[in-house]
Amino acid sequence: MAEPVLRVENLCCGFHTEDGYIRVVDGVSFECEAGKTLGLVGESGCGKTVSALAVMGLLPQPAGVVEEGRILFRGEDLAATSHDTMRVVRGQQIGMIFQEPMTALNPVHRVGKQLFEALRLYESGLDKDDLTARAVELLEQVGIPDPVRRLREYPHQLSGGMRQRVMIAMALAGQPEILIADEPTTALDVTVQAQILDLLRELQQERGMTMIFITHDLGVVAEFCDEVLVMYAGRIAERAPVGRLFNAPHHPYTRGLIESLPRMDTPSRTPLNTIEGVVPKLTEMPAGCRFSNRCGYADERCGREVPALESCTERSAVREPRDANGGGDTEAVEPRAARHEVACHHWQRLAA
Ligand SMILES: Nc1ncnc2c1ncn2[C@@H]1O[C@H](COP(=O)(O)OP(=O)(O)OP(=O)(O)O)[C@@H](O)[C@H]1O
Ligand code: SF4
Ligand SMILES: [Mg+2]
Repeated sequence: MAEPVLRVENLCCGFHTEDGYIRVVDGVSFECEAGKTLGLVGESGCGKTVSALAVMGLLPQPAGVVEEGRILFRGEDLAATSHDTMRVVRGQQIGMIFQEPMTALNPVHRVGKQLFEALRLYESGLDKDDLTARAVELLEQVGIPDPVRRLREYPHQLSGGMRQRVMIAMALAGQPEILIADEPTTALDVTVQAQILDLLRELQQERGMTMIFITHDLGVVAEFCDEVLVMYAGRIAERAPVGRLFNAPHHPYTRGLIESLPRMDTPSRTPLNTIEGVVPKLTEMPAGCRFSNRCGYADERCGREVPALESCTERSAVREPRDANGGGDTEAVEPRAARHEVACHHWQRLAA
């Protein structure tokens, strides 16, 4: 495997709150391969956005802290680098589409002004005509019709899909090598969601970008990602290439998420499966496995011992479908080629 573009090692971060310091991301590690898309999934509050903000050096200050870990990009540890270096990395090397377009865009400034500001960050000496030409070009690239008019409008004058396209344009302004997209389609209706996903796919291919795609929508993950990191309560529950994750989930939480997906082949009026219970509060995390209060496989060991993330590739005879729809013959997987890891004391029971 080629050297990853980004390698995050044992990331631990959290916030100083009125109740003291609370760790919200606990020992998260992952790599991003050039040109590929890594999906980050998990229920609300699992630490997806905080992990991404830590990579960008954008944890809310002064409360947010990266306590431990390394964020290696081109040999440099971004967790330990200067603010000046981060200013260059942010936007020009790693761009981010933020979770809420309406809060990320400033409602009192016209779209053009906000795009100009983004462009000025990355290139000095641009005059008004240059900025307008570049902003129009960016809006065209993200499929916004009549871009000259849109530049003069305020965010509230745009539809949700348009605002998301503007956010994508802003994230692309610095021509980043890695793009982090945090729930880029969640607030959109299904048709617009599909258009935005198509746009992101096209842009990724044109620019050869590496992507981190954050979502709680496993349907989108199946369509868009090469590899998936399932997070639960600030930790990694499972990590696998996308085909393996859906065909052979080894963590009870992943299995629960997949079983909660609506299916076309179940009779109508069949109630959707759900995972009982909720993610524990940060201040009330169980001592061992954080999923233990919701897990049908939990035993006494789960309550006291944190399960390590371990490889389950070599011992499980997982076979993958030949075609993307899960059909066709199966083919044996080269044990080390597909990295599949799981943090569960009893994953063999799910693999059996
Ligand atoms: N500024 C903050 N101060 C204190 N706690 C915070 C802060 N920002 C986030 N958190 C907490 O960190 C945890 C992880 O939040 P995060 O936003 O990363 O979740 P998420 O997985 O992105 O969820 P969602 O799917 O809802 O976007 C949550 O419990 C959240 O309440
Ligand atoms: S470690 Fe135990 S509680 Fe946690 S997911 Fe595995 S079986 Fe369930
Ligand atoms: Mg989030």
